[in-house]
Amino acid sequence: MAYTISFSIYKGGTGKTTSAVHTAAALTDLGQRVLLVDLDQQASSTRYVGINPDEANPSFYHVFQNQVPASVIRKRTAFGFDIIPSSSLMAAIEEILEPGEERLLRAILQPLQEEYDYILIDTPPGKAGLAFNGIVAADMLLVPASAERMSIDGVSDLVNHVQDIFWHKFREELKHQEIRVLFTMYKASTTHSPGVVEAARRIYRENVLPIYIPETIEFSRSFDKRTPLTRLAPKHPGAQAYRQVAQWIIDHAPATT
Ligand SMILES: Nc1ncnc2c1ncn2[C@@H]1O[C@H](COP(=O)(O)OP(=O)(O)O)[C@@H](O)[C@H]1O
Ligand SMILES: [Mg+2]
Repeated sequence: MAYTISFSIYKGGTGKTTSAVHTAAALTDLGQRVLLVDLDQQASSTRYVGINPDEANPSFYHVFQNQVPASVIRKRTAFGFDIIPSSSLMAAIEEILEPGEERLLRAILQPLQEEYDYILIDTPPGKAGLAFNGIVAADMLLVPASAERMSIDGVSDLVNHVQDIFWHKFREELKHQEIRVLFTMYKASTTHSPGVVEAARRIYRENVLPIYIPETIEFSRSFDKRTPLTRLAPKHPGAQAYRQVAQWIIDHAPATT
């Protein structure tokens, strides 16, 4: 059975996509079988791995419409992991998802569980149906927070909403769900980033990952090159940090066989 991790926070631009893609690449490099699921209509993870989101037909839209199974639209990336690519039609899914339909993705991914060690979900920003589907499908929420921009409010918004709403509504499914905070865009050279992390540690304690992703322009460059930094510059501290995240996941959130 795969262990499913959703990169979730309602705030945009804190590193969900960058973290999902790099964690997928790094887990793969460590020998794990990985599926990346792109739920965002912006299709940033899909583009990151060099896939054109407008090409797929049938697409993720048809999977949500129950017309084809997810295995039909799944693709192998050049980086050794598989992806369920997003498509611009995901906007239509967002439109028609009703309250009470937060379990659809969970059901969609169920038949693929045996084929992977880890299923990673990149979610869209905002409090809406697809983001909720990502949350309800996950064994663990990894919440990317920017250590440079004030994102503690974004973390508590997500954590409170999940605990108050989803942990009650889906008590059975989510009774073992874990939440961890992953700091991104960390600048060790200023006092600001360490201060933000310290403030978060006072609230979330050991649920803040002891690994901080450094702030570096190399991540934007890697997106422009459609290649994860772990492949582009494996020795770069940014690549090493995501390798540590992958190792942390293997140690703390083992896939069950
Ligand atoms: N550690 C980092 N250092 C510097 N820039 C980063 C870092 N992580 C992500 N970025 C950049 O910040 C922007 C937003 O990141 P992204 O992963 O797309 O966030 P989200 O998916 O949460 O919207 C992108 O331009 C990305 O290249
Ligand atoms: Mg994104």
